[in-house]
Amino acid sequence: MGVMSAAQIRHMQESGRIVRMVLVGLRRASVPGVSTAELDGMANELIRSEGGSPSFLGYRGYPASVCISVNSVVVHGIPGPTKLAEGDLVSLDVGVVKSGYHGDAADSFLVGEATDPEAARLVGVTYEALGLGIDAARPGNRVGDIGAAVQRHVEHAGFSVVRDLVGHGIGRRLHEDPQVPNYGRPGTGMPLKPGMAIAIEPMVNRGGWHVRILDDGWTIVTEDGSLSAHAEHTVVVTGGEPLVLTA
Ligand code: MF3
Ligand code: CO
Repeated sequence: MGVMSAAQIRHMQESGRIVRMVLVGLRRASVPGVSTAELDGMANELIRSEGGSPSFLGYRGYPASVCISVNSVVVHGIPGPTKLAEGDLVSLDVGVVKSGYHGDAADSFLVGEATDPEAARLVGVTYEALGLGIDAARPGNRVGDIGAAVQRHVEHAGFSVVRDLVGHGIGRRLHEDPQVPNYGRPGTGMPLKPGMAIAIEPMVNRGGWHVRILDDGWTIVTEDGSLSAHAEHTVVVTGGEPLVLTA
């Protein structure tokens, strides 16, 4: 688990800056007809042009630079020849390592003119839940307060939070302790301390929370085929307001 010094936080801010730049560029390029492999190639070039490396490429054998998860794909969608279409719910997940420190963030949005109001609400609720989770990342709180804040908001909206995948500590490694579930009970789990760097990443399904993994060993889809959205930030706990490194 990382409790970061000011110098380490500066390195993570630089990785976080590149993550955001890539997310902005990929989102702009996510128009009907573009393939997810093309977006992956763009991401790799952008990351390397900033002196970073894609955190995900080769991680446990992951074969691409970013994850692109469309519609009922929850997370870990592998870029390929499939082209984006009008109305697709796209989740982009980007990790960058530079000078030995990782940043990790994800965005979800609808391609083109958003047509399905319920899909738009799913995306909105996912970002609201992420915001509430970040707001709970304060000393005096515990990891369970983050998950409880996320879960309460999502379920109140009539959606469900994925249980099988969780947020995580982050720093010199992409995944460090503690695990940061998107569900839980207030006042439980590891106490939050200034300097702790964590990735908070609610995965929200329109239907039930159950997921399954495809035969490629990576792609996670909703069991009931319902739409899923994902939003993530890398955050440092401070003495005051949480510091979002990937904003
Ligand atoms: N943001 C995701 C995570 O933290 C992305 C990991 S994809 C992987 O787990 F390829 F690196 F596994
Ligand atoms: Co993550």
